[in-house]
Amino acid sequence: MRKKVIAGNWKMNMLPNEAIQFIEELAPLVKDTENEVILCVPYTDLFYSLLTAQNTNIKIGAQNMHFEESGAYTGEVSGKMLKAINVEYVIIGHSERRQYFNETDETVNKKIKAAFSYGLKPIVCVGETLEEREANKTAEIITKQTELALVGLTEEQVKNTIIAYEPIWAIGTGKTATSEDANNSIKEIRNKIAKIYGQNVAEEVIIQYGGSVKSSNAKELFTMSDIDGGLVGGASLKAEEFSKIVNFKG
Ligand code: PGA
Repeated sequence: MRKKVIAGNWKMNMLPNEAIQFIEELAPLVKDTENEVILCVPYTDLFYSLLTAQNTNIKIGAQNMHFEESGAYTGEVSGKMLKAINVEYVIIGHSERRQYFNETDETVNKKIKAAFSYGLKPIVCVGETLEEREANKTAEIITKQTELALVGLTEEQVKNTIIAYEPIWAIGTGKTATSEDANNSIKEIRNKIAKIYGQNVAEEVIIQYGGSVKSSNAKELFTMSDIDGGLVGGASLKAEEFSKIVNFKG
């Protein structure tokens, strides 16, 4: 049985004092969950969040990293730097980074490899645009993105990759894919992984749904056969609301 992994993606929100307050409020609310709880926070919140989350079941992640270890890359942060302060997870290839910061399937793949080389666990985002969906290209797009993201990884690394299926038209729009649609897309991704790496590898990969997840739809989505939790943007900015998503009952 795969466990459910619920990750918050704060995007470019929350000051350090707000992060500390949030985690202090969230920790008692989620302390009894069997689900994995992750908060992916801005770089400037990482250190404070890690300190505040010590001795809780809340794990901390970053939202991006560079694939090089160090060097003349002004403004960038490497996996080595994240690992040095004990960050555990890193989101890679979020659609906003693909759209606004020229992230490509190739850089996504490089970043995933770099993340593993520093012992970070990548949460890799894939998803189709509305245009692609309307042209019936969803399966083609998301399986291709998945394949290219995972090129050259070992079976063990693939098993430890978290994939977040996030239809771009559902991000921040209040529109959610139906649970059946989301489940079917995630099955396509899992089948693709099975074809390349084998069924036993595919069965272990955590594949989340993301896009307007909130406490009122979390249960319906997360109880589907292939949806292993969620990557949550807007609804992860309020501790009580986020705790209800984490504590969804199947
Ligand atoms: P949303 O964002 O929950 O606000 O739609 C999800 C995401 O972008 O990861």
